[in-house]
Amino acid sequence: MAFPQHIIARKRDGHALTREEIAEFVRGATDGSWADYQLSAMLMAVVLRGMTAQETAHYTEAMMRSGVVADLASVKLPKADKHSTGGVGDKVSLHLAPMIAACGVAVPMISGRGLGHTGGTLDKLESIPGFRVNLPLDAYRAQLERIGLALIGQTADLAPADKKLYALRDVTATVESIPLICGSILSKKLAEGIDVLVLDVKFGRGAFMKDKAKARELAQALVSVATTMGKPTRALLTAMDEPLGRAVGNALEVVESIECLRGRGPADTMEVTYALGEQMLLLAKVAVTKNEARAKLQQVLQDGTALEKFRELIAAQGGDARVVDEPERFPQAKFKVPLVATKGGYVTEVDAMGVALAALQLGAGRAKAEDTVDHAVGIGELVKIGERVEVGTSLAVIYANDEESLADARGMLAKAIVVTDGVPPATRLIDEIVG
Ligand code: URA
Repeated sequence: MAFPQHIIARKRDGHALTREEIAEFVRGATDGSWADYQLSAMLMAVVLRGMTAQETAHYTEAMMRSGVVADLASVKLPKADKHSTGGVGDKVSLHLAPMIAACGVAVPMISGRGLGHTGGTLDKLESIPGFRVNLPLDAYRAQLERIGLALIGQTADLAPADKKLYALRDVTATVESIPLICGSILSKKLAEGIDVLVLDVKFGRGAFMKDKAKARELAQALVSVATTMGKPTRALLTAMDEPLGRAVGNALEVVESIECLRGRGPADTMEVTYALGEQMLLLAKVAVTKNEARAKLQQVLQDGTALEKFRELIAAQGGDARVVDEPERFPQAKFKVPLVATKGGYVTEVDAMGVALAALQLGAGRAKAEDTVDHAVGIGELVKIGERVEVGTSLAVIYANDEESLADARGMLAKAIVVTDGVPPATRLIDEIVG
């Protein structure tokens, strides 16, 4: 067994580490045999020196095996999941998962909470009264056998090395490393028990990766490592300059997802939903062509089976499924105040980061991991880039629970939405499919 300092020195000097050395490092993070300063030094060495494709695959595998890997052999359907690197107003998982399950593909989805400017699927689900996200793995498996769908939070025994290393990365300026991100994301996703995976790698102002070239590099690394590990994977590169859809905030986004399940979702949200869903059905081999996959997805929206699946999911996890038909059962904000246009013209900018920070100010997200979220607040009925507005037209509705945050959010939102005389150029939402 090599000493930690010898393995750190080899990476510091730019060598490719062996599978055993990487396993030693990950074991050190899991069982506490490496001190935090040694783990941190190693993380920084990886940031500065990088990892080869082979090292990244070894690292991901060791991270995945640092805890339990769910065995879903008892779930007879093909199993597909989708993961987004995080955006603003990105509620796609909430309605896509029941759509896919309604198409006969099981969706074992283990999600995270929102942190910083991006929202988290678990927080959104918890805006449904009674909804439980903390299911043990046995209950998760049983629910998947029964209804083909489970959306839960990370359990303590799933990829524990990532929990340790992510916390260190957050405070040692070592988050921005493609091999480390790859190991972090895939270790959790591959431990869920999936057969195939589709990734939504976002780039732009409201994304974690602002730069498209970097996002493409990450998408390629994720696809290549997951595929090497025997899980057919594809990634979509999607733009995240303006929020997805018209709602940002937990309950508001669930309500918008229900609209998507009723076939009335915003065009941009549905474009991303269909594109991801098509790839999930193709990889899961329940459709042979994109057209066939799209037709199946449209069918489960039209005949109501996807919405019914969502009701089943809510009931299975202890939630009040009546919210689907009675949105007033969601937590309600005290103030609902429109922001009106002071100038006519075309909306040329809805800065996703600005909108996210306004929602954060209202209490919809967390600045620190231990913060609590207010499920009722956020921004709704947002205008979209390219829309024409007149003086006095509502640009958005602010849902707030106190006057101070309302005033602050209003100022932030007014700066994030830009109206000018010229029609903005059309941009592509889905830039590329990798894999
Ligand atoms: N999301 C993760 O889960 N891990 C990373 O390293 C980055 C984003």
